[in-house]
Amino acid sequence: MTIFVTGGAGFIGANFILEWLAKNQESVVNLDQLTYAGNLENLDRVNDDRRHVFVRGDIRDRALVERLLAEHRPRAIINFAAESHVDRSIDGPEAFVQTNVVGTFHLLESARVYWGKLENETKTAFRFLHISTDEVYGSLGFNDAPFTETTPYAPNSPYSASKAASDHLVRAYHQTYGLPTLTTNCSNNYGPYQFPEKLIPLMIHNALAHKPMPLYGDGMNVRDWLFVGDHCAAIRCVLEAGQPGEVYNISGFNEKTNLEIVRTICELLDEMQPDPAGSYTRFMTYVRDRPGHDRRYAIDARKICRELGWAPLETFETGIARTVRWYLDNRGWVERVVSGDYQNWVAQNYGGR
Ligand code: NAD
Ligand code: TYD
Repeated sequence: MTIFVTGGAGFIGANFILEWLAKNQESVVNLDQLTYAGNLENLDRVNDDRRHVFVRGDIRDRALVERLLAEHRPRAIINFAAESHVDRSIDGPEAFVQTNVVGTFHLLESARVYWGKLENETKTAFRFLHISTDEVYGSLGFNDAPFTETTPYAPNSPYSASKAASDHLVRAYHQTYGLPTLTTNCSNNYGPYQFPEKLIPLMIHNALAHKPMPLYGDGMNVRDWLFVGDHCAAIRCVLEAGQPGEVYNISGFNEKTNLEIVRTICELLDEMQPDPAGSYTRFMTYVRDRPGHDRRYAIDARKICRELGWAPLETFETGIARTVRWYLDNRGWVERVVSGDYQNWVAQNYGGR
């Protein structure tokens, strides 16, 4: 059997594929456009594995997707492909609408055509699993209860608005056409292979390069952090046991301010790679805030725990230590990622702050 994954050369998609091939016999067709965030080096370990079929292409390309579905006959589609960085969505929202909204629409249409022709058990067992974010629910005050699956959507950035729109389309394809969809809304992920424009890898990279570690605003914004391997395990649970049409929130039950995160990174680096000139905390810098910066995300993930028996295995302490170690052991990966276009992004986003 085969699953069809989109965006599998990105951070979460690549972690998912590496784990999938290590744990299953089933093959994976991986459709990825290889934008700046897609990196085939993330999949080096499965280069010689014939169960991994990589195709460079766009989820909006219906002819390509329909041909791949007809050829490989997957039992499921898992949609990771997206533009995923909030700051980039503020700078250039159009790509977010194109991939996250228009792309998800085209993928749903291709899936509907393919699923419509399936028969009997193959048709009943088919799943379209859409990977989404907790950011669709908007921002919480410090004393508000965490988001549940029924919290009304209130996205605040072009990124979260485009993900919210894609979630609505997925819901509509279930309600209208009966497509067996599943949606997951997960909190902030961290771990190996995360592009160093996101908070945790950016801070590790800048500290090691003796560059400013830029905290937006007062550094007191709160996120819930989940180790990427635990997110991948949750996705496997939802794929196998989730009820079509349902939504599952996923979180690490681990709320932290950005300041706490950055201090922890400095402590770990001080321990693992001490700098004779002093603690890495000397690089922490407050910079102008992100416009529309959501104050707090907190997510109630009790439904997936109760109904599907999932629970995160890593604590924040073990997960962040593994992550810092991985970035120290993979400096070459980081160096190759941050050469080229990355420099232009850093100049654009941090230049005037
Ligand atoms: P990422 O930016 O690292 O990777 C996205 C991948 O999608 C890249 O490989 C890119 O080349 C590919 N892609 C982009 N546009 C495409 C298109 N039009 N067609 C085909 N491929 C395309 O993102 P990520 O952090 O791995 O996130 C994966 C998914 O998980 C996204 O849908 C994101 O919204 C969601 N999510 C991420 C987080 C997080 O903390 N990173 C948390 C919750 C949900
Ligand atoms: P990020 O990793 O971009 O994820 P998201 O905005 O999707 O939650 O940012 C996580 C938090 O870290 C968010 O509150 C913004 C903050 N942040 C900084 O303070 N400095 C930075 O340089 C970046 C990239 C993020």
